[in-house]
Amino acid sequence: MHTRILVFLFLTIFSLRLSATEGMWLPQLLKALNEGEMQSLGMKMSAEDIYSVNRGSLKDAIVSFGGFCTGELISGQGLLLTNHHCGYSRIQSHSSLENNYLQDGFWAMNRSEELPNPGLFVTFIVRIEDVTEQVFRGVTEDMDPAARQSLIDKNRKSVETAAGIESYQDVFTRPFFKGNQYFLFVTETYNDVRLVGAPPSSIGKFGADTDNWEWPRHTGDFSLFRVYAGPDNQPADYSPDNQPLKPRHFLPISLDGVAAGDFTLVFGFPGRTNQYLPSHAVQMQADVLNPIKIGIRERTLDVLNAAMRADEEVRLQYASHQAGIANAWKKWIGESQGLKQTHAVTKKQAMEAEFQKRVDAKPEWKTAYGNLLPRFAELYEEMEPYAKTMNAVSEITGRNVQLFQVSGIVDRLHRLYESQGLDAVKQPLPRFLSYLEGFYEGYQPTIDQQVLAGLLKYYAEEVNPDHQSEVVMARLKKAQGDYAGFAEALFTESLLARPDDFLPQLEKDPEAALKAFSEDPVHRLAAEMRAANDEKVMSHYDRLDKEREQLQRTYMKALMEVFPERRFYPDANGTLRVTYGQVEGYQPRDAIQYLPVTHLSGVIAKYQPGDYEFDLPQKLIELYEQKDYGPYATADGKMPVCFLGSNHTSGGNSGSPAIDAYGNLIGLNFDRVWEGTMSDLYYDRSICRNIMVDARYILFVIDKFAGAGHLIEEMKLVHPKK
Ligand code: ARG
Ligand code: ASP
Repeated sequence: MHTRILVFLFLTIFSLRLSATEGMWLPQLLKALNEGEMQSLGMKMSAEDIYSVNRGSLKDAIVSFGGFCTGELISGQGLLLTNHHCGYSRIQSHSSLENNYLQDGFWAMNRSEELPNPGLFVTFIVRIEDVTEQVFRGVTEDMDPAARQSLIDKNRKSVETAAGIESYQDVFTRPFFKGNQYFLFVTETYNDVRLVGAPPSSIGKFGADTDNWEWPRHTGDFSLFRVYAGPDNQPADYSPDNQPLKPRHFLPISLDGVAAGDFTLVFGFPGRTNQYLPSHAVQMQADVLNPIKIGIRERTLDVLNAAMRADEEVRLQYASHQAGIANAWKKWIGESQGLKQTHAVTKKQAMEAEFQKRVDAKPEWKTAYGNLLPRFAELYEEMEPYAKTMNAVSEITGRNVQLFQVSGIVDRLHRLYESQGLDAVKQPLPRFLSYLEGFYEGYQPTIDQQVLAGLLKYYAEEVNPDHQSEVVMARLKKAQGDYAGFAEALFTESLLARPDDFLPQLEKDPEAALKAFSEDPVHRLAAEMRAANDEKVMSHYDRLDKEREQLQRTYMKALMEVFPERRFYPDANGTLRVTYGQVEGYQPRDAIQYLPVTHLSGVIAKYQPGDYEFDLPQKLIELYEQKDYGPYATADGKMPVCFLGSNHTSGGNSGSPAIDAYGNLIGLNFDRVWEGTMSDLYYDRSICRNIMVDARYILFVIDKFAGAGHLIEEMKLVHPKK
């Protein structure tokens, strides 16, 4: 009897633990859905402490950083913590060969040295409301799709108008669960955000691409900014008179550190996940589309990496562009491998078989949902050839060949000119000019030209002949395989490749410049490629994709009905989410066990003097040799660097705080492990882990390494475990 109860208890606790950490949850629903489970994982707070409309709560310390990362307030004077890689392009923009902040770090020693960043913003969430009922008012299942959509759009507008926001606030609604639910968000956005501190890349990006997406990790991936507000503490455009923001809440920082099994909460803005795709879609992603994108980026990276290794100035100019290309490239490789390793497709198929069985057993389900999976199978098969070309062409024209990207941007201006005349161009022109000036500052035509040569070869040899542009192919044929010569000739003739001629002309005589642009050989080539793609690919793809989207909405609804015993969380869509888990290692392969914490000794062990990825600042080595860690060391005198958790995070969660059981900051989220990057499509508790920098390492670098103790003084350091 006794043992049976014990076994039963063990099983309940064990199964709870197993399923517990999957999901990106809506903060306002924690009370109903998650609070009990979070407490069973060790949390000592209530759901109200995390999200409350009526009083200050954790959510008031969290911001969307520039719309692509997360940040958090860590002082009552607007001090904000985010990742080094989130602040990266801003740090780069303030850097030159003389003042190379990217390489050497930057620390404002007082407020007047903090550097403004035009265009950068942070957004707080004021409140979130379920508006599903209002948005679906009058909407019926048998409506024609276009009429349905326009009624939904109209309802969304009126819900937003009725929200009653203040003049300094914004409001928007977003679809959740594939358009089965809608939530309303009231937000406050601050535009005066200044750079306060950044470690040198040898700390903030230590390990670079080799270590990116990997464990064990030794990167101090953090940077500091400050949010400024107008005299009333409300959002205001940049002004030297602005004052540091006094936030409703800021996170105290724990000096007690983490141990395996500790509760962790990661609070932030994950961008996009797709957990409810049918097996066909996952298979296509893993086996067909990822390999295409990986192959294209590999060609680009060969060129970029060689050029950057050879020249320090290029290394600085191309740092951010290369990091972006390399980051997704490596993620896709890990994603495809992880999906295979966890048999994600087979497991999805098993779930789908169960779904079909239950649906077929109930007449009304059978009518409504019985044909969903078979239709998905047909659709994905039909879509695949188009999806392949679409992915290849958008990688080539939209991301890898920089001048193609520029051609797409200037083309918007050109089309405005064609349709509405010169006056319509004059108003947006300054914005375009300042963007282009920024772009060309770090642009090297000779590098881009080599990338183009490689990708034209790819286009000619790998893209489906039925989808290629005849014009482009005829010209390539004439070049007889000399892609390098072809690209060179194109660049020599191109006005776009000569910014010193193009930009002044665009400014002084936009009409002449835009006319010349429309004849530009690089632009012409990109335009032909895009036009063929629109005509031969996108026209079919878009039609199929519309149907796919509707099926997916119905499938989502069906899943929730047919599996009432399962708990569902909405896919990430750039809105604020809570994920929770514990500090824990994992087993990446048979007989290998990863421990969850790394230390400074591991940083030193990776040190390679002069290497572009694994060099270290002398000062850090000295601090290590003297064990000069101040109050930031562990009880046994070590300096912790990174730790692992089982929080279900995604791109956009970078810069998110890792929060302890009591609401204090213990770390800074910045990555996931290689084996688990497929968590955007399929979560497997055994290998999906997020990677955080230990808060104590951050404090140590600020205080001991950078000598910026004045920043520590405005923080609130606490000892919750004592
Ligand atoms: N992999 C992380 C994320 O997806 C960090 C990327 C920055 N680091 C880098 N070496 N590119 O964004
Ligand atoms: N590094 C990612 C980011 O920048 C986080 C992730 O994908 O885990 O948001």
